[in-house]
Amino acid sequence: MLSEKELSILSIRNLNIWYGEKQILNSLSFEVQQKQVTAFIGPANCGKSTLVRCLNRLNDFIPNFRSTGEILFNGIHLGASTDTTALRKQIGMVFRKPIPFRCSIYENVAYGARISGINQSAHLDTVVEENLRKVGLWNEVENILDETPKQLSIGHQQLLCIARALAVEPEILIFDEPCGELDPIETVKIETLVRELKNDCTLIFATNKRRQAARVSDIAGFLYCGELIEFGATEKIFTNPQDNRTEQYVTGRLG
Ligand SMILES: Nc1ncnc2c1ncn2[C@@H]1O[C@H](COP(=O)(O)OP(=O)(O)OP(=O)(O)O)[C@@H](O)[C@H]1O
Ligand SMILES: [Mg+2]
Repeated sequence: MLSEKELSILSIRNLNIWYGEKQILNSLSFEVQQKQVTAFIGPANCGKSTLVRCLNRLNDFIPNFRSTGEILFNGIHLGASTDTTALRKQIGMVFRKPIPFRCSIYENVAYGARISGINQSAHLDTVVEENLRKVGLWNEVENILDETPKQLSIGHQQLLCIARALAVEPEILIFDEPCGELDPIETVKIETLVRELKNDCTLIFATNKRRQAARVSDIAGFLYCGELIEFGATEKIFTNPQDNRTEQYVTGRLG
């Protein structure tokens, strides 16, 4: 049987983050296990987005951003010399607001495949169909593939963005409040999809909806004022938390 370290795809060690003088994350250490859903929960502004954006180095563009500590992806240290274009193929991201590209529905998904080096049109057709099927969007769009995604509902635009991200075959897919703009029916679709995608890749999910984290995740981390208060099996975090603040948060008395 593999040990916890052998299964871990990301190792975060003593991570500190500042924007200017203000410290946002304080000495975070945890492991992300392969083919599991790891959720980060916590009140607004506790640092969830800042944390998940670090994992594919999206914060590097922010002028006053500074970090110390280590992030290891498959045992390799992510540092200033990391090829971020290659990294973002391996660690994809889905944001709160879906932003499809200004091209056709087909091209949105084909883009993902093309940057993975697939150019032959029959192969592209297969990848586009496979990924649209995977997210449950194929039946809705198979006759309008050449049209703009703007005509789709916000929920369908989010599914399209997920299909585009999957077409690159990422090892990790990060979701940052992916249901923040969606209605309850669309939210159920995304939550169900996240559970299914575990067969394909490792999922990281940031949300301030605690019940949503309980529904989708295997492992949960509670962030509060920039500290990782508790991290472990979701069931335990929600039913038998070890820290008083976690207990207050998951029962709705805090945040
Ligand atoms: N570019 C930035 N420059 C300065 N401060 C920032 C920047 N981005 C975020 N912050 C601050 O960092 C803190 C953490 O923000 P972050 O967006 O990570 O929180 P969050 O937990 O994702 O919140 P939410 O639940 O609202 O999405 C907040 O105080 C925020 O104001
Ligand atoms: Mg956020």
